[in-house]
Amino acid sequence: MAKVAVKLVSWDEIADWARDLSSKILESGWRPDVVMAIARGGYVPARLVCDNLGVMDLVSVQVVHWPSTAQAIERAFIKHEAKVDSLAGKRVLVIDDIVDTGDSISLAKEYAEKAGAGEVRSAALQWISTVAKFKPDYYSINVTDWKWFVYPWNVTEDVTNFMKRIIMEEGASKNRWGFTELVSKMREWYGDEIMKVPLSYISKALINLEQMGLIERSSNGAEYVVKGK
Ligand code: ADE
Repeated sequence: MAKVAVKLVSWDEIADWARDLSSKILESGWRPDVVMAIARGGYVPARLVCDNLGVMDLVSVQVVHWPSTAQAIERAFIKHEAKVDSLAGKRVLVIDDIVDTGDSISLAKEYAEKAGAGEVRSAALQWISTVAKFKPDYYSINVTDWKWFVYPWNVTEDVTNFMKRIIMEEGASKNRWGFTELVSKMREWYGDEIMKVPLSYISKALINLEQMGLIERSSNGAEYVVKGK
């Protein structure tokens, strides 16, 4: 059994979910004047919804998560703001890829309301109904078993983070890794699903970890050595 449940999402699934989400918005009889993408995950879904609904005005706001002072839990913050006067009095649809905890989308919705939007509604391709504190007005997929979804725009970053976690957590007992050892560890932690990722992404993730100063190549180039803290 994998330690972390992972599902790779294809571009075709993204297109289908965005079309389904757009139909639900259309069927509700409500039409947004402005779409507000939540960076970064909401960019592609928002652009597809604009196309499906014929919306010309697309703005974005970036929400990031940082640990709040002296707490292990993360808090959501607005990092980059939208152009506020473009929202005044408008029907605004806030879009993200996934509603997991619900913190990002509820903060973005609140932000649009404070910026003077007339009415704000929310949408996501996926809603994890079993963990989210917030239910979007529109969604395509109701996820009931929590998973980490590897979206097609995030594969390198996700694989880098997966490898980083392996190297950090196994670091106490192992500090030299061969490429194939790392690949089989990935399979052990993240299941067969992760093996659908082309190996070139794994190589790129290792280059990223080298550039981050977390690992270095052994002198003969055959192994990755975990650097001391
Ligand atoms: N972002 C927040 N939660 C996520 C999840 N479960 N899968 C992919 N991206 C996410």
